[in-house]
Amino acid sequence: MPHYGTVITNLESRKILAMTFPLHASAPLQAVAANGALIPRLGLGTWQSTHDEGVRAVRAALDAGYRHIDTAARYENEQAVGQALAACGVPRNDVFITTKVWHTELRAADFRRAAEASVARLGIDHVDLLLVHWPNPEVPLEETIGALNDAQRRGLTRHIGVSNFPVALLDRAVALSPLPLVANQCEYHPYLDQTKMLAACSRHGMALISHSPLGSGKLLADPVIAEIARQHDKQRAQIILRWLIQQPGVAAIPKSSNPVRIGENLAVFDFELDAASMARISALARADGRVSKPAWHPEWDIADTLHTPSPAAQP
Ligand SMILES: NC(=O)c1ccc[n+]([C@@H]2O[C@H](COP(=O)([O-])OP(=O)(O)OC[C@H]3O[C@@H](n4cnc5c(N)ncnc54)[C@H](OP(=O)(O)O)[C@@H]3O)[C@@H](O)[C@H]2O)c1
Repeated sequence: MPHYGTVITNLESRKILAMTFPLHASAPLQAVAANGALIPRLGLGTWQSTHDEGVRAVRAALDAGYRHIDTAARYENEQAVGQALAACGVPRNDVFITTKVWHTELRAADFRRAAEASVARLGIDHVDLLLVHWPNPEVPLEETIGALNDAQRRGLTRHIGVSNFPVALLDRAVALSPLPLVANQCEYHPYLDQTKMLAACSRHGMALISHSPLGSGKLLADPVIAEIARQHDKQRAQIILRWLIQQPGVAAIPKSSNPVRIGENLAVFDFELDAASMARISALARADGRVSKPAWHPEWDIADTLHTPSPAAQP
């Protein structure tokens, strides 16, 4: 078991706890506790960090104090992540490693092979979180969730979850899963209202892991973010990440391959945003805020705040 430290705050009745990670003096991390998993609130995203760049980024992150790394078979960098992990000197059990099975591999036999191959490429005997990367309507969900459970029972992963599942599908996945799902990794940042998903994750005791937390970089040009950053004497990315991790049950996995920015993104545990700043940032949500729009995306939930009232409903 990882040595994740002591409980310091009980944030809410559903037992999402803030935990400290006294692993690195300069970067006390916190974790979201979700259905038995302790997920460090801040991790390194690695999409598009491949080969030597990937090794360097993961190594820089681990040296800076990160204890959560997000990869996927699709990113073609599991070997690089494993190489950095092996070389960094941080005990394996202190690092939370997530990988994902691609949506073309969701039949039971394919899933099994894919999960085994990911773990082998990482050079470890299990990951900490195994996710279904995207749903696939052509494969019965029962079969995929069965295979996900099988991977955990066989010790390939400590915990299981999903990614990019809208609320109704998440509810079905939870109902079909004998072992608890601990997270839905989905796009979440100030331009995208995820109120419904936050409520669903809370209902299921799950964490929402924010992917594309900086909107793949888009949010960094926002004038409101820039103004709040100036007020707090912080970097823009730090304001966005703080807004995310200050919300109960939310973790974030910003990607950077720049050691300075990697360090910057972790330095978000020593300040707080007041309620007014939190609300100003939440108000940035917009109908076209989503950045991740691959052809295979499911039908997304629409935020209530973004429904325009139909003319017939007007007084
Ligand atoms: N489950 C899924 O389907 C899914 C989908 C998308 C992403 N993800 C995961 O989420 C991770 C993050 O998402 P993302 O990679 O799309 O985008 P992101 O983390 O929202 O933004 C990354 C971009 O911001 C830049 N950046 C990072 N920190 C910065 C800072 N402090 N100041 C200025 N620029 C900064 C990076 O450039 P530099 O590298 O040059 O710093 C990069 O261009 C991915 O890497 C992946 O692990 C998962």
